[in-house]
Amino acid sequence: MDKFNALRVHNDNGQVEARLEQITPDMLSPGNVVIRAAYSCINYKDAMAVTGKGKVARRFPLVPGIDVAGTVLHSDDPRYQPGERVLVTGYGLGEGHDGGYSEQVRVNADWLIRIPEGLSEREAMQIGTAGFTAARALERLERAGTSPADGPVLITGATGGVGSLAIDIFSKAGYSVTALTGKPDQADYLRALGADEVLHTDQIEPSRRPLESGRWGAAVDSLGGDTLAWILASTKPWCNVASIGLAAGVQLPTTVMPFIIRGVSLIGIDSPLCPHDIRERVWQRLGQELKPRHLERIGGQEIGLDGIADACRKLMAREVTGRYIVKL
Ligand SMILES: NC(=O)c1ccc[n+]([C@@H]2O[C@H](COP(=O)([O-])OP(=O)(O)OC[C@H]3O[C@@H](n4cnc5c(N)ncnc54)[C@H](OP(=O)(O)O)[C@@H]3O)[C@@H](O)[C@H]2O)c1
Repeated sequence: MDKFNALRVHNDNGQVEARLEQITPDMLSPGNVVIRAAYSCINYKDAMAVTGKGKVARRFPLVPGIDVAGTVLHSDDPRYQPGERVLVTGYGLGEGHDGGYSEQVRVNADWLIRIPEGLSEREAMQIGTAGFTAARALERLERAGTSPADGPVLITGATGGVGSLAIDIFSKAGYSVTALTGKPDQADYLRALGADEVLHTDQIEPSRRPLESGRWGAAVDSLGGDTLAWILASTKPWCNVASIGLAAGVQLPTTVMPFIIRGVSLIGIDSPLCPHDIRERVWQRLGQELKPRHLERIGGQEIGLDGIADACRKLMAREVTGRYIVKL
């Protein structure tokens, strides 16, 4: 039987450890399509799974990696033929189902997206779940009425994967972008992606006041917690806020005042459970008018399977700017 390389996380009496191993196809989660993986990438959730933080890995041993791009190797589904370029993001990949940190990945054909014209497999993973989610935030905000005329879009966790790609995508779409970061030394990077203004987290005071003066025409938040509460309090009347992440906390210590006095809307963005037709549309757009202009600057850090554990430790320690891609 074929042997191939994979990174698997094991749980030995509560001690989570990632190990580079040679495995065989019968050791993978079931599915009707096998992908020869070309690239994966590292998202916040992957870093949690690999380092054992949170409860991302739902069984052990598990191949982490919530994203993968490659070509179809075998297919028992007539919709897909060997050699077709495909990607998968979410659907429990790398959480309950063996994921993208493996040279072969077996999935359910219903999860596949054909990589659109205009994107290479590498570019698809420079975007990955982070860019897909940022693009989805743009769609949801615009459907709720947001437009560049509303005022600056605040993007938090700015040097992270979602943050960097959101800056690129929103600025390309004509928005004035304010980047909020804990890394003031990365201001040049953020401006190069399209940020018009860079705020350091020390410059804001996430007080618990129910309302602050309204500054933001929209916001894309990767942090949650006090920061999201402050964003809601400082968003302009009738404007919209997209909640994507929880890097700073899962609590939301807010009041109803931004909603009932200013008509602010809080929009939840979820990528893992996103319906397939919406995924197809968003990926098509990401290959065309929403394609980020700075993919190499954001996602040019390429590592192999042997570099994942170290990269994940750095991500959790907030030492990373942009995002890592994994070449398989
Ligand atoms: N809803 C969804 O479907 C979805 C999809 C993708 C990601 N997410 C979530 O979105 C968040 C960002 O994901 P990502 O992949 O972009 O992660 P990432 O690359 O690690 O970026 C997170 C950024 O947030 C800031 N940050 C990290 N820890 C922080 C802390 N304790 N307090 C304040 N700021 C902190 C840092 O930016 P600065 O140093 O620049 O401030 C960091 O670069 C995560 O919570 C992730 O789980 C959700």
